Amino acid sequence: MLAQDCGKFLPMPRQCIGRPIPFQRAAPAETGRPRHPQLGKVIDFMAIAPTTQTRTDDDLPRISRPVVLVGLMGAGKSCIGRKLAESLSLPFMDSDSEVEEAAGCEVRDIFEVYGEPAFRDCERRVIQRLLQGGPAVIATGGGAFMDPETREEVKAHAISMWLRAEPEVLHQRTKRSRHRPLLAKDDPLQVLKDLAAQRYPVYAEADIIIDTGNEGLEKTLQKAIDALRSGAARDTTS
Ligand code: S3P
Repeated sequence: MLAQDCGKFLPMPRQCIGRPIPFQRAAPAETGRPRHPQLGKVIDFMAIAPTTQTRTDDDLPRISRPVVLVGLMGAGKSCIGRKLAESLSLPFMDSDSEVEEAAGCEVRDIFEVYGEPAFRDCERRVIQRLLQGGPAVIATGGGAFMDPETREEVKAHAISMWLRAEPEVLHQRTKRSRHRPLLAKDDPLQVLKDLAAQRYPVYAEADIIIDTGNEGLEKTLQKAIDALRSGAARDTTS
């Protein structure tokens, strides 16, 4: 089975046999999806901006909805996401890892054995589940926000943050990785350019946009925290 999470039966590929499928899908609500209890509540605004890299609890925005990171492969969603979650004392989740855990095999095997549509279907269901889990930082796979249903769910239940970077920067960061099926092509830079042209107008619908170039991780992290703080301020006035 690809995953109970995916709600449909698929035979297990050879690569996955013998690997556990530890994920148990939560029972679905009787009518529609269960809504997060915090949904619709405002985010508290911490008024004092930090002046140094040393953050205290008072410097941090209090988050009452999941923060969903979107962006192309290599944008730093998992890396920044993990640090952001740590800083905000929130759980961190990565949709690709959750899909892999549910399926018992790697994303590239799902692509190869079942095809991209099966992966997208599983990804959509996994993200819907993660969004119901309360405040957390969720790194999504690069294509997740392109799915209209996922995008609507994220807009309704979460704060979305696009980590934006130039394709050339993304290429530098991803060129040694072997686990991304979409980049296993002759000209991965061109793939990234094409995906950027197609996806950036959609990623731009995110609540927050953070530019990440070759600056250090700490700088991007600080920008993300600052943006959440001022985003929280906007939220309290709406
Ligand atoms: C994809 C991005 C990957 C993974 C899959 C497809 C995409 O995640 O979900 O290979 O469509 O851009 P990362 O963005 O974390 O590499």
